[in-house]
Amino acid sequence: KTDPLVLFMPSGKRGRFPVGTPILDAARSLGVYVESVCGGRGICGRCQVEVQEGQFAKHGITSSNGHISEFGPKETRYADKRELKEGRRLSCSATVQGDLVIDVPQDVAVNAQVVRKDSDERVIERNAAIQMCYVEVEEPDMHKPLGDLDRLMAALATDWGFTELDVDFHILPQVQAILRKGEWKVTAAIHRDEERERPRMIALYPGLKNEAYGIACDIGSTTIAMHLSSLLSGRTVASAGTSNPQIRFGEDLMSRVSYVMMNPDGRAAMTKAVRDALNGLTERVCSQGGVSREDVLEAVFVGNPIMHHLFLGIDPTELGGAPFALAVSGAVRAAAHDLGLSMNRGTRVYVLPCIAGHVGADAAGATLTEGPHRQDEMMLLVDIGTNAEIVLGNWIRTVAASSPTGPAFEGAEISCGQRAAAGAIERVRIDPVTLEPRFRVIGIEPWSDEPGFAEAAATIGVTGICGSGIIEVIAEMFLAGIISEDGVVDGSLAARSPRIVQSGRTYSYLLRDGEQKIMVTQGDVRAIQLAKAALYAGVKLLMDKQGIDHVDRIGLAGAFGTFIDPKYAMVLGLIPDCDLDKVKAVGNAAGTGARMCLLNRGHRREIEETVRKIEKIETALESKFQEHFVNAMAMPNKADAFPKLAE
Ligand code: FES
Repeated sequence: KTDPLVLFMPSGKRGRFPVGTPILDAARSLGVYVESVCGGRGICGRCQVEVQEGQFAKHGITSSNGHISEFGPKETRYADKRELKEGRRLSCSATVQGDLVIDVPQDVAVNAQVVRKDSDERVIERNAAIQMCYVEVEEPDMHKPLGDLDRLMAALATDWGFTELDVDFHILPQVQAILRKGEWKVTAAIHRDEERERPRMIALYPGLKNEAYGIACDIGSTTIAMHLSSLLSGRTVASAGTSNPQIRFGEDLMSRVSYVMMNPDGRAAMTKAVRDALNGLTERVCSQGGVSREDVLEAVFVGNPIMHHLFLGIDPTELGGAPFALAVSGAVRAAAHDLGLSMNRGTRVYVLPCIAGHVGADAAGATLTEGPHRQDEMMLLVDIGTNAEIVLGNWIRTVAASSPTGPAFEGAEISCGQRAAAGAIERVRIDPVTLEPRFRVIGIEPWSDEPGFAEAAATIGVTGICGSGIIEVIAEMFLAGIISEDGVVDGSLAARSPRIVQSGRTYSYLLRDGEQKIMVTQGDVRAIQLAKAALYAGVKLLMDKQGIDHVDRIGLAGAFGTFIDPKYAMVLGLIPDCDLDKVKAVGNAAGTGARMCLLNRGHRREIEETVRKIEKIETALESKFQEHFVNAMAMPNKADAFPKLAE
């Protein structure tokens, strides 16, 4: 007679096991990740699973609750004391009795006060680098002169198989006190990032420590966003953001690099500023989540190359000019303490690899999240900032480049440009006959021609145009015939509409009249043309490298990508022709990539390997760049057609 078949969902891993095998052991032997803190003593509740009942014809299994052992003493005790949800079993206690289909829930929470913040957040399969290991240590004995730490290590070897284990030195002076406080029961936090690496004890707690946390953080040049997640359940417990305090040293990246070049203490000052901000944010997410900073045991960071360098305390000057050499391009592993981060003394830091001198760890994070390297379809991933970071590829080949778009898309260099904040025009429509505009302002619900707008505008004020508004107004001006294909504002229309206003030798479009006039000038149109031509030329170079003339799917990352309307981006020729419903804002994909690496160390291998394989294209060295750039100055483009736009 053959042994029962056990199938684990959602991984689909399966194997045959003798009757009486604990489900946890079966999972482990198949490499299915099931959490366990107490090592099968039935006290942590982390190992919960569910039996799926029914016929699973595809797999040739009939699974039922009768095929698993009855509640044993461990489970009964646990269910009495804590709560064991209907249908849940402790896999360390329940054993195989017949064919089984076992569901491993991704969100086993044993801590009721932990709330889930983000309802639609993606479920990330867990395989954290931190393992919480509860052990009961032998008490000291005059006849066996083994030290406290040595007996602890022996217990970790017997119960958890850690025969080789390094110990962070900061634990040593505390070992005696912790063991006695826990009455010889303690939980060790073991860190192991890579299988080939020796595991290391980085923290020690008295008693059963049934929780550990990590932070994932995207250091943007404008804003820093941080998430606090439980490493054991995968849940996001709290999120917060703040503006990057380095802004006072320079608005954009290049001005921060110049600050470092001009000021002997510039690098140190900016490193301190960002680290202080990170400590403040950590404090905030921890207090929001009701978590002690001491319980944050891992921290993962992404950022563009300059943010990356400044955070690590590296001089970014080399990134200011050719050949744009990174100090380090691979992933960085460090101790949080060495980076001046106030968390647990043993907290480990992981920084995603950078792709190239201008394509940073943030682009790597976005790549990991969107996974062009996992798809058949040719995907274009664009993160638009002062530099556009561009990744194009599929599972066969992925190429990347950056393009110097300048800050125009962020509203800088635009006469009435401003940051996306209350009072900024973000949506624009222009009547092609009357040339009259209607628009929408951040912070004001109704459109400008709807009731209630005037009152709201009087309190909030209409102060300028943000990046997405600029794209829309120029695209609408083009669609209404106010600007030509070459981007020239048609002065002859001034006779027809008071909206076309002469300013010197060129003409402007008056978007909002009144005390504070909001104009779109010829210079503004030029600035956007230059920026979009740079972006498109970069994209086009990568398409040349791939030998393709259209892309299957486009992901627009970052804040700009979230707010810009794909249709208008295509009208202007910012992005190549593509099915409009295949153009998606992917939000903070970089931050999600950081969270993936936090919760699953397998993703670290994946992105490190992917980044190694990505072919880096230096736009400045490509002779075709100039030609693509010139063609892309026109709207939407002089050489390339946009058939999907016409559909
Ligand atoms: Fe702790 Fe099962 S492993 S309760």
